[in-house]
Amino acid sequence: MSNKPRILVARAIFPDLLAKLEESYEVRSNQADAILSPEELQHELSGVVGALVAGSERIDANALAKAKDLKIVANISVGYNNFDVPAITAAGVMATNTPDVLTNTTADFGFALLMATARRITESEHWIRAGKWDKWSIVNNPLGMDLHNTTLGIIGMGRIGQGIAKRALGFGMNVIYHNRSRLPEADEKACGARYVSKEELLKTADHVVLVLPYTSENHHTIGAKEIALMKPTATLVNIARGGIVDDAALAQALKEKKIFAAGLDVFEGEPQVHPELLKLQNVVLAPHIASATEKTRRAMVELAMENLRAAIDGRKPPSLINAEVWKA
Ligand code: DGY
Repeated sequence: MSNKPRILVARAIFPDLLAKLEESYEVRSNQADAILSPEELQHELSGVVGALVAGSERIDANALAKAKDLKIVANISVGYNNFDVPAITAAGVMATNTPDVLTNTTADFGFALLMATARRITESEHWIRAGKWDKWSIVNNPLGMDLHNTTLGIIGMGRIGQGIAKRALGFGMNVIYHNRSRLPEADEKACGARYVSKEELLKTADHVVLVLPYTSENHHTIGAKEIALMKPTATLVNIARGGIVDDAALAQALKEKKIFAAGLDVFEGEPQVHPELLKLQNVVLAPHIASATEKTRRAMVELAMENLRAAIDGRKPPSLINAEVWKA
């Protein structure tokens, strides 16, 4: 039996990066990529000193019940709503995520989804594939909404929100934002954004993009009441997390054309998608791919690996969430 420290890699990763881990650790890996049940996760975490996990692994007191040797859970994701941070901290385990390395890729995607939604790009493609395009027409082709010279409202103005705002400047958009706390003036200036209340944002924006982290407080930040404040010509894009939007209320609003269209990369209960959304043409659907370029996904895994190595070697992980554990 090897005397290398034992670790868990809970989801499939790039084979060459797995091979690197195997040089230093005895790795329990899940290259089959089947999602572990809570019981399997609890079992797999027992006897390992570190674990690379993702949003699919809920790390809470139950998952940690037998993880007596565990020093770190390293999420391969910037969002960490799959972590019960107080429970992880109480267990004396370090928790880390992967900020920064995905900011630009995710902001690019947010902007792409916004454009696809406003300009009806996927709907148009379905239309062509269905053989419905028989002539160019001034009025009888899918007519969309402009982005240039319109108002973009961003809810959640962290690094990714600011990245989207900077891209919007290139399109001559007027950018307003709402956030838990207002940005320093220099940051507002750098992304040309003006702070407004959530209500003002919903009422005045032509396009609304959601980039806030998911917490129990912002569950259904956008529901029927908020959609009712939006312009009938507005679009809504969610690249944040499922649960931030009430998908049933959104589907109903899209069906009744209360807003123009929506673009969704994340869903309540994903990979399930609300069945009513699947029937609609005025919604662009993507399978949670905002950070999905090979370069960025590799960088996310590499940062998670660096966090894991640091914790096991007794160094402070670069993106530590619960600094209390390090101090203790
Ligand atoms: C993130 O990093 O939070 C992405 O949404 C992938 O989960």
